[in-house]
Amino acid sequence: MERIVVNGVSEVLVGDDLLARDRVLPERRGRSQIAVLAQPTVAGLAERVAARCEEAGVPTRVRVHPDGEAGKSLDTAAATYAWLNRCGLHRDDTIVAVGGGALTDAVGFIAATYLRGLETVYVPTTLLGAVDAAIGGKTALNLGGKNLVGVFRHPARVLIDTAVLAALPEALWREGAAEAVKAGLIGDPGLVQLFEEHGRATPMGEMVARAVAVKAEIVEEDFAETGRRAVLNYGHTIGHAIEYVAGISHGEAVAIGMIAAGAASVAVTGFDGADRQRRLLDGLGLPVEAPDIDGREVRRILALDKKRDASGVRMVLLRDVGDPIVRGVSPATVEEALQVVGIE
Ligand SMILES: NC(=O)c1ccc[n+]([C@@H]2O[C@H](COP(=O)([O-])OP(=O)(O)OC[C@H]3O[C@@H](n4cnc5c(N)ncnc54)[C@H](O)[C@@H]3O)[C@@H](O)[C@H]2O)c1
Ligand SMILES: [Zn+2]
Repeated sequence: MERIVVNGVSEVLVGDDLLARDRVLPERRGRSQIAVLAQPTVAGLAERVAARCEEAGVPTRVRVHPDGEAGKSLDTAAATYAWLNRCGLHRDDTIVAVGGGALTDAVGFIAATYLRGLETVYVPTTLLGAVDAAIGGKTALNLGGKNLVGVFRHPARVLIDTAVLAALPEALWREGAAEAVKAGLIGDPGLVQLFEEHGRATPMGEMVARAVAVKAEIVEEDFAETGRRAVLNYGHTIGHAIEYVAGISHGEAVAIGMIAAGAASVAVTGFDGADRQRRLLDGLGLPVEAPDIDGREVRRILALDKKRDASGVRMVLLRDVGDPIVRGVSPATVEEALQVVGIE
């Protein structure tokens, strides 16, 4: 089992069959009950988690939360607050979140604000949730736009059971793999090599622990995202624009966005790993070219992008694998990057 501590307050445990072996909750006195909130797809797992909590002698209830982005609405949050209130949760009680990133984002926010904040434990059940959403303390609800309501607050513990992640369907594996590869590219050349060596069969435990360690180290330095945390957006500037226009998944869009950012890096920093990055993403079954979409729409969104400043579109670039910088990129270079991923 790997243990990674973030900002001295949040403990991330990564291990195979962890939920069968380990205590779910950090050792602490005073809990009178536990509330488990779970996505419908993992309701069975949530029951197992609840049974482990009960074994420790604390009455535990499970509530199934709406799936996906529907679980991040203000209405859903209001219904969940009302349920917590009916249960009579106290300040010393604990909320456990079992599900993907949408669930941990929403339950993280609800737990951070109900009674001004209860202890939270996350059990991420998607790879993206494990390597990205559950790490770093960003919580969020949607309000028209995505993630407009939120607070920064770490969960006390994140339990990542790699046996759960090993059983994920291919599409959910690719979603998380895109972010794990990103973590390697911005912060861990050894993780990139691991992916190159094993491809789709990359060992889950080591992949997750290394990707978590990269994010933890960045968040440790810049919890409230005033500076360095921006490097986590590698592949996300052009990626988000493509995601929005093409309606493809986040992971696919980030893969294409990393190809574009790699091309911009070649032009600006002399980065020599663009071909290597393309081979790696392609080998993992991630797209390296945008689908046939309206390039004008993509350009319109990039021009409006909040990452733009006087010096151009702000992008994360690589000087080398594991060595990112944030730069304003000229319109000509952005054009070049769009061409490389086939956006006319
Ligand atoms: N807080 C952060 O720093 C951060 C970072 C990245 C993403 N996010 C957020 O995370 C969300 C995306 O996360 P996601 O991709 O996990 O999406 P998700 O939570 O919507 O899960 C995707 C689907 O997988 C299902 N699922 C969950 N566990 C499963 C399992 N073990 N087996 C089969 N299906 C399972 C879910 O029910 C859902 O239908 C977005 O809302 C995004 O904004 C947050
Ligand atoms: Zn992302």
